[in-house]
Amino acid sequence: MSHAAKRIGILTSGGDCPGLNAVIRGAVKTAERHGYDVVGFIKGYEGLVDPVTYIPLNSKNTAGILTQGGTILGSTNKGRFAATVGVQNRLEIDPVLLAGVKATYEQLDLSGLICVGGDGSLSVAQQFHEYGLPVVGVPKTIDNDLSATAFTFGFDSAVACATDALDRLHTTAASHERVLVLEVMGRHAGWIGLYAGIAGGGDVILIPEIPWTFENVCGKILERDQQGKKFTLVVVAEGAELPDGEVVTAERRQDTRQTRLGGIGNVVAHEIERRIGRETRVCVLGHLQRGGGPTTFDRVLATQFGSHAVRLIIERRFGEMVCYQPPSILSVPIIDAVNKLSRVDANSSAVQAARALGISFGDTSDLAGPFGIDKRIAIEEAPIETPLAEPPLEPVSPSSESVPVEWEAAAAYADAAMW
Ligand code: F6P
Repeated sequence: MSHAAKRIGILTSGGDCPGLNAVIRGAVKTAERHGYDVVGFIKGYEGLVDPVTYIPLNSKNTAGILTQGGTILGSTNKGRFAATVGVQNRLEIDPVLLAGVKATYEQLDLSGLICVGGDGSLSVAQQFHEYGLPVVGVPKTIDNDLSATAFTFGFDSAVACATDALDRLHTTAASHERVLVLEVMGRHAGWIGLYAGIAGGGDVILIPEIPWTFENVCGKILERDQQGKKFTLVVVAEGAELPDGEVVTAERRQDTRQTRLGGIGNVVAHEIERRIGRETRVCVLGHLQRGGGPTTFDRVLATQFGSHAVRLIIERRFGEMVCYQPPSILSVPIIDAVNKLSRVDANSSAVQAARALGISFGDTSDLAGPFGIDKRIAIEEAPIETPLAEPPLEPVSPSSESVPVEWEAAAAYADAAMW
C-alpha cells in the first residue's frame, strides 16, 4: 500500500440516525482542503467487496446534505460483516471477505477508511484494524449508550422528536383527562426516556436503570388526581424491564442481529387501566425518532466528528474512534470503546432534578429527599452567614387593582391543566 496515497474511504453502517450526512460532508470538506479525494462505499461494509460499490464524493455532490436525515450512502444492518456486538460475543469476519477488503484498499489506493457506526459496526472496524487495514471509527446512535463519548450525534435529534411528541400528547391528554403513555427507543439505556421526559414535562419516567412497580406508577396518577391534575404523561423506554424482570420484545431474531425491543407501552397502559380504571392511550414513537434532519447540536457534533476522523487518518492514528469529551473532540482506541455501555446513573443530577420536581421513576417515592437527592445520602446544611445591616425598605402601598375572582379560578384551572 502506497504511503503517498491521497484518498480516503468512508461508509455508514448499521441503523441510521440524524447526522450521518453531516459527518460525510464534514469529512469530505476537510479531506479536500488537505488534498485528499474521498470515495463513499454504498450500503456500509457491503460496498467494500464483491461487488465493490462506491461513489466519488466531493464538496459539490455533498452540498446541501448537512440538514438531511438518513445517509446518502445507504447502510446495512449486519449483512455479511456481522461481528456481533461486544468482545465476548465476537464473531470472526470471514478471512476471504477480509482479503477482499484488502484488495479494494489496494486497488483504490486508500490511505484510510472512516467507518461510521454503532458498537456492532465498530467491532467490524476493530477487526479491520487487527488485520492491518488503516481504519478509524466515528460513533453514531440515537441511544447515546457508548461510554467513550459524552454524546453521540443522533441522540439530541431523537430527544427533540420525543419531546415534540410529548408536547402534542400533553394537550390531548389534558383535554380528555386521560393517561397517555409514550414509548421511546434507546435499547438498554434510558437516555432518550430521561431527557425527553424532563424536556416534555413527563410525570412518570420508566427507564431500564431504575426498577419500578405498577403500584408506584398508579400511585402517582392518583396523587395527581387528588391535586386536581386529571391527566398524566408516562414516558417509558422500550428497554425498561417490567417489575418481574421481563423485557418486552417485538420480535426474537434467529440470526446474529439483536432482539428487537418494543411493546412495553401497551403493557403499561393496559395494566394502568386494569388497576385503577383510568382511560389510557399509548403512542409508540418508533422510527420517527431515527428519521428527519439533525438538530443544531447534532449538526455541530457530527460535523466535528467527520472532520476529526480525517485528521486521525492524516496523523495515521489508526484503530482510533473519535469521541466527545466536553469541551473537546478527542479519540480513543476502538477496542476500548466498543461494548462499554453508558447507562443512566440513577443518582445523576438529571435524575435528582427530575425527582425534585416531583417526577416519578416508578420506584419508592419516599426515597426522594430535598432536591430529589436519595434520602439515604446525607445533605450538609450550609452555615447561615450573618447578613450585613441594610437600610430598611420603603413600605409599598397595596395595589389598587385587585385580581377579579374569576381570573383566580381561571389561573388555577390553567395551572392544573398544564402541569
Ligand atoms: O440502536 C438504535 C435503535 O433505534 C434502537 O433504539 C432500537 O431498539 C433499534 O435501533 C431498532 O432497530 P431496527 O431499526 O433494526 O428495528
